[in-house]
Amino acid sequence: MIPSEIIEEIKFRCDIVDVISGYVSLKRSGSGYVALCPFHSERTPSFHVVPERGFFYCFGCGAGGDVITFIRKIENLDYVGAVELLAKRAGITLPERAEPEYAKSGVKKTRIIELNREAARFFHARLLESQKALEYLKSRGLSMPTIKHFGLGYAPDSFDALQKHLLGLGYKVEELTAAFLCGLSERTGRPFDYFRDRIMFPIIDVSGDVVAFGGRSIGDAQPKYLNSSDTPAFKKSRSLFALNFARHSCSERLLLCEGYMDVIALHAAGFTNAVATLGTALTDEQARIMKRYTKEVVITYDNDEAGQRAADRAIRLLEAAGLQAKVLTVTGAKDPDEYIKKYGAAAFRRLLEGSRSKFEFKLDAILEKYKIGPDGTSDDESRIKAVSEVVALLAELPSKTECEICARRAAERLGVSAENLERDAEKKRKKAYAAERREQRRQSLRLAEGLGDRINPDKLKFRQQAAAEEAILGVLLLYPELIPDAQKLIKPDEFYTSLNRKIYAAMAEAGASFTLSALGQILSDEEMGRAVSYMAARERLTKNDLEVIASCAKTLRESRIIPGTLAGGDETPPDPGEIAKLILKRRGGK
Ligand code: GTP
Ligand code: MN
Repeated sequence: MIPSEIIEEIKFRCDIVDVISGYVSLKRSGSGYVALCPFHSERTPSFHVVPERGFFYCFGCGAGGDVITFIRKIENLDYVGAVELLAKRAGITLPERAEPEYAKSGVKKTRIIELNREAARFFHARLLESQKALEYLKSRGLSMPTIKHFGLGYAPDSFDALQKHLLGLGYKVEELTAAFLCGLSERTGRPFDYFRDRIMFPIIDVSGDVVAFGGRSIGDAQPKYLNSSDTPAFKKSRSLFALNFARHSCSERLLLCEGYMDVIALHAAGFTNAVATLGTALTDEQARIMKRYTKEVVITYDNDEAGQRAADRAIRLLEAAGLQAKVLTVTGAKDPDEYIKKYGAAAFRRLLEGSRSKFEFKLDAILEKYKIGPDGTSDDESRIKAVSEVVALLAELPSKTECEICARRAAERLGVSAENLERDAEKKRKKAYAAERREQRRQSLRLAEGLGDRINPDKLKFRQQAAAEEAILGVLLLYPELIPDAQKLIKPDEFYTSLNRKIYAAMAEAGASFTLSALGQILSDEEMGRAVSYMAARERLTKNDLEVIASCAKTLRESRIIPGTLAGGDETPPDPGEIAKLILKRRGGK
């Protein structure tokens, strides 16, 4: 557990509005802010930030919490990871972090990094000795300075050369296997070098540490590439090759490639803002990491069908992370590496300048699909289908101006009028908007009624009691100073539902000094969202005091005497605005 004074200090220095506005664009609304929720897709903002109380809440999807919960969710970190990130931002040094859970091997991250550094040195020295490996790299057009810059190496064709060297330096077999430099033979239980007869690409993180390796076979050995698996020092889904270099020249944009060799060729040609994933499809974590460094990402994947499909998916992830995504398709070569070799850096730069926006990329795909060429050789039926797909694309554009510009472009290519395209897109947008509102309302209703409630399962059985509990918790979350008085009125074990009991128990323990962050350490982020929803619901009401608590406590007590019925109690269930009205209407109808 991180000491609560430190958590409070971090929260004090990391203003929730500052932090959140680094990820979403907040608009002022009353005493708080609203935005499109970054945790689900929507067109009408239901994401609220209440700076005064230090929380955010989305009425659409139920996500909510304090600034730490926000970072945890948006960066996909665990609680401690989120605290670390914010601490760094605030310039606070945390006490030594306990070994993270995934360090099952017991080998520490720092040790693996040392080991990798030694291994990288070893591989590099072997490369300089190996005529064959140097020949290979030369044949791929790599110069000596480039080889040195990337610290490339060669793993000799041997089952024990590396381990002998590292064991000689005093490292242990468990450490070599934990770092994925060696495997253990199933038959003999003996260690063997994992990378053999391969060109070695050290993967260096933004702090300059060698965290892993990729190895390309020189001959025909399969697989073509081997990559380290995750270790305490390395998470593949969060790493990008060459980001250690690219971070210095990417304020405008990053180039995202598929392969190591593409990245190296691009850097050598002066495009030092190129990075690549490590043999896997782009992850949302990688997209969010890129967001920390730049505003725009140009996807330069291979010029084959798989590459283009991957580009389509990457666009979505990048945009979801708040980045501008563009696509550059190399023509006349299979990938950027080959393109630069064939046509040179200047040609690639021109290509880059012409890289297509997401809209153009998709428009081209539609035109191709329905074979609508410059000579317009397509039948009416395919033209109509193409138009309807284009209209759907237009309807998704964020602004009217953008829609207008894109409609004009599309109209030219399709041979129809731009005005019609725009009008249809507008219609479609309205329809989608209405459908979204309906869905949002349905979802709020489900949340409020606790139908199929995963987060607080007991709520199904004890609906009315849960409502009373939620009112109590909501008031106390807003006014923790009432906690000691509430304690005199009701005890945690008088609560019916497990989640609410857990929250109330945490309050009882902390007393008047309770803060939302005390919950962060014991609740999952979904549970946190639920807790904050109680507060968000009460925030909208005018009466939030001890009287409310007393009457809800009475409700809970009396419902215990006559099981299954809600007896007495002056307090009606909390009324989170529209949601509650809907529920009441429903109940009235029965
Ligand atoms: P060259 O073939 O040497 O030009 O390499 P490349 O970097 O252009 O590779 P390619 O386009 O074939 O593949 C793109 C990336 O996918 C590589 O850089 C690797 O990270 C990864 N990759 C390719 N083949 C394999 C494989 O067999 N296994 C794994 N795990 N990853 C691979
Ligand atoms: Mn290639």
